[in-house]
Amino acid sequence: MDRRHENLFWTPPAVERQEREALNGHRGAVLWFTGLSGAGKTTLAQAVARTLHDLGCRTFVLDGDNIRHGLCSDLGFSAAERIENNRRLGETVKLFAEAGMIALAASISPFRAQRDSIRALMGACDFLEIYCRCPLSVCEQRDVKGLYRKARAGEIAMFTGISSPYEEPLAPDLVADSANSGLNDLVTEVIGLLQARGCIGMGRSGAPQ
Ligand code: ADX
Repeated sequence: MDRRHENLFWTPPAVERQEREALNGHRGAVLWFTGLSGAGKTTLAQAVARTLHDLGCRTFVLDGDNIRHGLCSDLGFSAAERIENNRRLGETVKLFAEAGMIALAASISPFRAQRDSIRALMGACDFLEIYCRCPLSVCEQRDVKGLYRKARAGEIAMFTGISSPYEEPLAPDLVADSANSGLNDLVTEVIGLLQARGCIGMGRSGAPQ
């Protein structure tokens, strides 16, 4: 029996989430960008954060590559380590949402069941899964970081799409067709999603009506 939690006590907050959201003028939420390496997750997350910030929203981007320099610097790329990496990321963005912010997570997060359990962790209305859909052939041809070339040469083991699986979302909240659409159009689609779900547009200064 796991007894590690038996002497812990949950302290209720003095400031409720709804109060933070009212102060911010928008709801807390998580935008979770999933897709292959090179599919444009980071680029889109950063562009959406820029636009939201300019609209008066409180945002923070948590990018897989960056998180792996700190919070997850002890983890590699085995299936178990990817799951732990994304578990930590999921718990972290949940805190941001509870703080009334719009957290943007950009992570390959290759396993469908895990993305579903992160959604379940915080509830479907907080978690918006955005599938940056870009065929492997296009990611590999772009090869912005030169990692596909290394993976094909056998210099990187367990590389997503080459020697490690990626499970596409079956019902994402949005498909960002990053192979065929321009960045500005994709940003507009994500902002539209946030409006449609009532995350922004609560009528305080800055946020769109
Ligand atoms: S995840 O699979 O655990 O969700 P994450 O998004 O954090 O991955 O990190 C992916 C980034 O790590 C890639 O953008 C790439 O720069 C780098 N990387 C290094 N090794 C690998 C690998 N074997 N597979 C995928 N990405 C890798």
